[in-house]
Amino acid sequence: MKILVIGSGGREHALAYKISRSPLCEALYCIPGNPGMQELAVCTDIPVHDHEKICDFCLREKINLVIVGPETPLVEGLADKLRARDIPVFGPSQNAAQLEGSKAFMKEIATESSVPTAFFKRFRDVDAALSYVREKGAPIVIKADGLAAGKGVVVAMDLTTAEQAVRDMLQDQKFGAASQEIIIEEFLEGEEISFFAICDGVTAIPFGSAQDHKRVGDGDTGPNTGGIGDYYHARLMKSELEEKIMAEIITPTLKKMAEKSAPFTGVLFAGLMIKDGFVRLLEFNVRFGDPECQTLMLRLQSDLVEILYAASQQKLSSLPKINWTPDPAICVVMAARGYPDKPQIGGEITLHPINNEHVKIFHAGTKKENEKLVAAGGRVLNICAVGKDIQQARSFAYDALQDIDFADGFFRSDIAYRAL
Ligand code: AMP
Ligand code: GLY
Repeated sequence: MKILVIGSGGREHALAYKISRSPLCEALYCIPGNPGMQELAVCTDIPVHDHEKICDFCLREKINLVIVGPETPLVEGLADKLRARDIPVFGPSQNAAQLEGSKAFMKEIATESSVPTAFFKRFRDVDAALSYVREKGAPIVIKADGLAAGKGVVVAMDLTTAEQAVRDMLQDQKFGAASQEIIIEEFLEGEEISFFAICDGVTAIPFGSAQDHKRVGDGDTGPNTGGIGDYYHARLMKSELEEKIMAEIITPTLKKMAEKSAPFTGVLFAGLMIKDGFVRLLEFNVRFGDPECQTLMLRLQSDLVEILYAASQQKLSSLPKINWTPDPAICVVMAARGYPDKPQIGGEITLHPINNEHVKIFHAGTKKENEKLVAAGGRVLNICAVGKDIQQARSFAYDALQDIDFADGFFRSDIAYRAL
């Protein structure tokens, strides 16, 4: 098969790595890709928002499967354009991608399908929203309705922060059209988990889980990021819990989406809060988590191409069981100083060879400048490892970090501490 991956981050590098190892993959292409992906694939600089050009490229190169990494092209309808030209694609339609594109839509679907989630109300009017937060009190959670690059959620531990968030979003239009409407919801306590299910519109199969660290600083302090590290070990995700999540969250959502004529094909990523055996949905994303995907790809033993292609063809029900290594895995994100507010890009990076087959480094935000590797984004590199236990995975990853020269970079020193 000729396969195209859309995207340029660590998630897409991890997908490309796994695809490149599949016996089904005859040729691999990436749009636009990154220096790490260039070692595995032919990378082409077509702008990701230029859907027509991407379709033309697929027809010209006779692409058999397109895998869309990030949410933005999905929310903008890239999968619809590809399907309209009979190009097989792994990723939801524009309508189905509203599960991530609009928090209000996601909450309505959850309510209609009785999926357990935080109690919420929608607001467009500042004064109404302010009186509601005053009535409810803190802690309380304020969310911009639309896509805001992972920055549209404020978990307010006091009323002043909550009121400020309401004003920022509704009055000052901090996120433009994305915050014309906001959701104000109940604060949930518990342990967070990222859960993945591969869907073909009708059938959903569980596809692993991970726990990520959102706060930029050690001890889970400082501002929220898109994910500064993640880990997997089997402590939390027992098979009973997996069955419960499929039965209470994933299956009812898939059914409701089909009823709404927006069948979901792709990966449904449920951000969940678990407490005392109860599961509640925080949010849906319509793509793999970043950096969760990196640990999933290290642990996956089945053929990724076979799975994603089956989903694109609505043939998941006949797929053999998916195999994973039971070993724990970890991903430490090396970020550019200043991330997430003002990452300092352009810093030079030197990667020295790593003699450990259990370690894998993915490029997240790098580029080549005059033959040198430099930082090109906030999250720059992902240092991932699998180990016999979480301690071993952790030391493999942190040891490998010693072999990277990146003076303008930093990383958290305590990824996976909760699992120790
Ligand atoms: P989201 O983008 O909706 O996943 O929100 C980002 C982060 O905010 C989540 O990963 C949680 O840590 C936190 N969060 C979101 N909603 C809630 C909630 N209702 N209660 C507590 N924390 C939340
Ligand atoms: N790491 C969380 C996300 O990808 O949204």
